[in-house]
Amino acid sequence: MEKTITVLPGDGIGPEVTEAAVKVLETIAKRYNHTFKLQFALIGGAAIDACENPLPEETISLCSDSDAILLGAVGGPKWDQNPSHLRPEKGLLAIRKHFGLYANIRPVKAIPALLESSPLKKEIAENVDMVIVRELTGGLYFAEPRKKTEDYALDTLVYTRPEIERIVDTAFQLARSRRGKLASVDKANVLDSSKLWREIVEEKKQGYPDVEVEHMLVDSTAMKLITKPGAFDVIVTENMFGDILSDEASVITGSLGMLPSASTRGDGFGLYEPVHGSAPDIAGQNKANPAACILSAAMMLREAFQMETEAAAIEEAVFSVLNDGYFTGDLQTKGRRVLSTSDWTDKVLDELDSEFVSE
Ligand code: NAD
Ligand code: IPM
Ligand code: MN
Repeated sequence: MEKTITVLPGDGIGPEVTEAAVKVLETIAKRYNHTFKLQFALIGGAAIDACENPLPEETISLCSDSDAILLGAVGGPKWDQNPSHLRPEKGLLAIRKHFGLYANIRPVKAIPALLESSPLKKEIAENVDMVIVRELTGGLYFAEPRKKTEDYALDTLVYTRPEIERIVDTAFQLARSRRGKLASVDKANVLDSSKLWREIVEEKKQGYPDVEVEHMLVDSTAMKLITKPGAFDVIVTENMFGDILSDEASVITGSLGMLPSASTRGDGFGLYEPVHGSAPDIAGQNKANPAACILSAAMMLREAFQMETEAAAIEEAVFSVLNDGYFTGDLQTKGRRVLSTSDWTDKVLDELDSEFVSE
């Protein structure tokens, strides 16, 4: 198959982790006789530095002409004091909005080789297998009006019925294809937007009698994610709650550096992006864990290109390198072999080669 992929390295560890994912994609292309046309473009701080725009027109046009987009991360202290239209994060929000990528799918699954890396007890973390479905183009992140003066600031939280209906449908369909359990997370004891959210979930559930639905408040959900994470199957929630809960859930897997995601609009096209950020504290040191970006590339192959075998090969290679006892620094526990980003990636590439030879 021939596919065009736009790669947006971004800032901080973004270029390091996308470089790793690109090597994996090149290996897959060779092994499975695909042509991946990779085109690189600027986003975030790198784009602000180059052309004073966190999402340049040229980036949008390259992305429009591609079959999928792979992102590293954006942001960093260099741009933290910029006015809000010149912040790297603005570029990421704008690309999600531009392409209508309303559904952010964030799988969180315990990895046996990493149970010791989680601060949770093994018996709590070991059965975790959930997906957080985060609404991505609405809510506090986008609604107008917003305003800031020296002594007054305003953000507006708006959700419309169609925005809620489509993300709730996405989550019901996903739950139906998994263990049939949906937790809808809101703050309906306080917020009107959450009351509407809850009403719509109640209406929608009539169409999915095979899915068991529970409404949960976001504060106690944060607690239950740590005390009983194995109880969750699919979680659906609004933009900001989903942002916060997914970083919390990453701890269960051992590191934020392990979590991939897909930002989609229901047709496969999407932005495939790690959950983590640009990690300024370790950027440029060849220390970052590239697994989240590599696993995001695997999600891209599966969701955007229907390449199930290739996606599974990548996941298997990542898990077997971890099983063999090779880790990046974020997963360090006593006695483990810690590798750099590039050396760890080489292990994954070797593993892909050996999987292929043994087929
Ligand atoms: P962060 O996710 O960048 O880092 C949080 C902690 O996790 C840091 O200690 C970091 O070293 C560690 N970490 C994250 N990813 C890692 C990886 N792959 N390997 C090893 N360790 C990893 O969050 P932050 O520090 O709150 O934010 C830093 C910047 O990133 C900010 O500018 C923020 O806006 C931006 N950000 C961007 C995205 C994105 O581009 N999708 C996501 C989150 C944050
Ligand atoms: C994420 C990030 C972004 C978000 C920021 C960088 C805008 O935290 O992808 O989780 O909040 O959506
Ligand atoms: Mn986040």
